[in-house]
Amino acid sequence: MSVQLHALLILCLSFTQGDCTYSSPHWGEWNDSQLLPTIQKLMKGYNRYLRPNFNEGPVEIGMSLDIASIDAISEINMDYTATIFLRQRWRDSRLVFPGNESVSVDGRLVSLLWIPDTFIPDSKRSFLHDVTVENRLIRIFSNGTVLYALRITATIACNMDLTKYPMDRQVCTLQLESWGYNLQDVVFYWTRGNDSVKGLDTLRLAQYSVESYYTTVSEAVYETGQYPKLVLHFALRRNVLFFILETYVPSVLLVVLSWVSFWISQSSVPARTCIGVTTVLTMTTLMMGARTSLPNANCFIKAIDVYLGICFTFIFGALLEYACAHFYTMQQQTIEDLHRELMRDFNESNGNGPIPIVTSTQPNQSVQIGSTAEEPTEQSANSETRNSVGSKEARQGCSLSTMKDASRRAVSVFTVENPHNIDRHARTAFPTAFLFVNILYWLYYLFL
Ligand SMILES: *[C@@H]1O[C@H](CO)[C@@H](O)[C@H](O)[C@H]1NC(C)=O
Ligand SMILES: *[C@@H]1O[C@H](CO)[C@@H](O)[C@H](O)[C@H]1NC(C)=O
Ligand SMILES: *[C@@H]1O[C@H](CO)[C@@H](O)[C@H](O)[C@H]1NC(C)=O
Ligand SMILES: *[C@@H]1O[C@H](CO)[C@@H](O)[C@H](O)[C@H]1NC(C)=O
Repeated sequence: MSVQLHALLILCLSFTQGDCTYSSPHWGEWNDSQLLPTIQKLMKGYNRYLRPNFNEGPVEIGMSLDIASIDAISEINMDYTATIFLRQRWRDSRLVFPGNESVSVDGRLVSLLWIPDTFIPDSKRSFLHDVTVENRLIRIFSNGTVLYALRITATIACNMDLTKYPMDRQVCTLQLESWGYNLQDVVFYWTRGNDSVKGLDTLRLAQYSVESYYTTVSEAVYETGQYPKLVLHFALRRNVLFFILETYVPSVLLVVLSWVSFWISQSSVPARTCIGVTTVLTMTTLMMGARTSLPNANCFIKAIDVYLGICFTFIFGALLEYACAHFYTMQQQTIEDLHRELMRDFNESNGNGPIPIVTSTQPNQSVQIGSTAEEPTEQSANSETRNSVGSKEARQGCSLSTMKDASRRAVSVFTVENPHNIDRHARTAFPTAFLFVNILYWLYYLFL
């Protein structure tokens, strides 16, 4: 009963559908016998549970896609969300009707026809749009070809390799498989090969551009058998400009800022420490900010992490450079003070004759407080003073020269000749090293 009702609906539809070439001459006097043979005969005895060509080989289903949009490409979930128009066409010989017309059937009558059980194996969530009616279309051609179109939004998994992020290129796929009919029942093909997919060229994506795409036909093998499968591969290239502006340029500027410290006098401790600490902290903030939109629980190191790590190392190195330079300056000052003191003492002892044997122990104490590096010198000086039996002149001259030698040796081992040279070398060494590392980095990540 309901079938007949639907058939009537189809009749009305096909009649009101515009030109209706065969009925227009008899517009006023059209009768059932003209239209009944077409649709009512179609539906009479039609078994929608049996596929077309039931006993005569597989039914061939041609597919084509229109990508309306790709909304969200998520690195965290490793998926993308796409809205697609999926068109399937096949030939159902039971639906042949005379003439060369096509009939667009109401979408709700899909339930009366056999339709393929296509599904998207990688989809996590998907739905058929139903505003204002379910977005599907059925068109039956007189030769029995059925066109079935749907508008679907699906979130589809896409495995991403983020090791080169943000200079990466992701290849995602959209797969279409038959759920229940295996290769003996159903065969899939792309209707126009690589041109079956439209809309990818004109797609505007926030972070990516579609580099290339192509289609393949394959088969899915499961325990239950072999199933037809169509795959659309498309490669997405990330637009790196955003990251250049957002992360790379600021971190390079921070590194350069940390070098400013090399041109500031070593005596201005607050200025240089401030630059060092501020740049380190800002770099830390940048590193945290660059990580927010990414899965952070993964074990691979991304290109951006490498770069931020390099920048952080350089900035930290600049801070350490100041610490070293300052330390050696202070040490040199201590040693110079020590020298001056020793010289004064010896000069005094030279003037006063026998007194040095008593007073020469005095520097020993001050040295132990000042710097342990000087200890052997003093001990040798002491032992010499203790063991001395020869003339006073020889003893004093000898101890003075050994003392000088030893202290100079100690100075050369533990300090830099001129601590201000550290800054001077850093001014060339840091930029050169940074440039070199940058060349290596960009060569590796852009061309390898
Ligand atoms: C319907 O039209 C056909 C010709 O177009 C005519 O032969 C037939 O008698 C008509 N039937 C009725 C019920 O009017
Ligand atoms: C199909 O219809 C067109 C007019 O719409 C006509 O010119 C053509 O001859 C028809 N073809 C067949 C095979 O009937
Ligand atoms: C059936 O008709 C449609 C539209 O005229 C045409 O595109 C299609 O190729 C035809 N199919 C076959 C199998 O003849
Ligand atoms: C589709 O494109 C791919 C890659 O460009 C190519 O290998 C393949 O031959 C093309 N197929 C067709 C049918 O043109």
